[in-house]
Amino acid sequence: MEGDIDRILITHEQLDRRIREMADDIAACYPEEDTGLVLVPILAGSIIFLADLIRRLPMKMKLGLIAVSSYAGAVTESRDASITRDLSVDITDQHVLVIDDILDTGKTLRLVGQRLRERKPRTLRTAVLLRKPSKAPADVTADFVGFEIEDEFVVGYGLDYDGHYRNYPHIAVLKPERY
Ligand code: XMP
Repeated sequence: MEGDIDRILITHEQLDRRIREMADDIAACYPEEDTGLVLVPILAGSIIFLADLIRRLPMKMKLGLIAVSSYAGAVTESRDASITRDLSVDITDQHVLVIDDILDTGKTLRLVGQRLRERKPRTLRTAVLLRKPSKAPADVTADFVGFEIEDEFVVGYGLDYDGHYRNYPHIAVLKPERY
């Protein structure tokens, strides 16, 4: 796997430090006595970010999983997003925090936001590890952002290319011949 990597953009140590800061910001937004928080990670890219983030959050919460497909197979261009696994937790009148790996074209978060708003949550916020400011449209925003990156296809720390590299511990760019 290491031989496929061209450059590391964000090391695991940098990720770890930033996720601690994000957890503090998120915790400040949801005081501990305020119950009814549901985290909604978008599968599968957010799993490692989620695992590191939630262990730094002190408040009571539930998890509700949702899966969206937009990059099926060996592609780096997002197609139309579709929900492949819907939420099974009741979020009506709950505080909902959507967790995603990356805000790229915004199609995924737009779709998930629309679907969740239909269920009348009390509040709906979003936390993303990465954001590509040059691509994200103005109508899709994230309340908590880990890092802003250039418009390059990245892998590692949960993000995949054709199903691989999710277990690579850093955020990295593959060698051109690997795409
Ligand atoms: P959109 O374009 O809908 O993207 O904002 C959201 C989902 O697409 C995947 N994605 C990426 N995956 N490297 C990846 O490994 C990337 O650079 C990348 N950009 C988008 C990702 O699953 C994200 O949730």
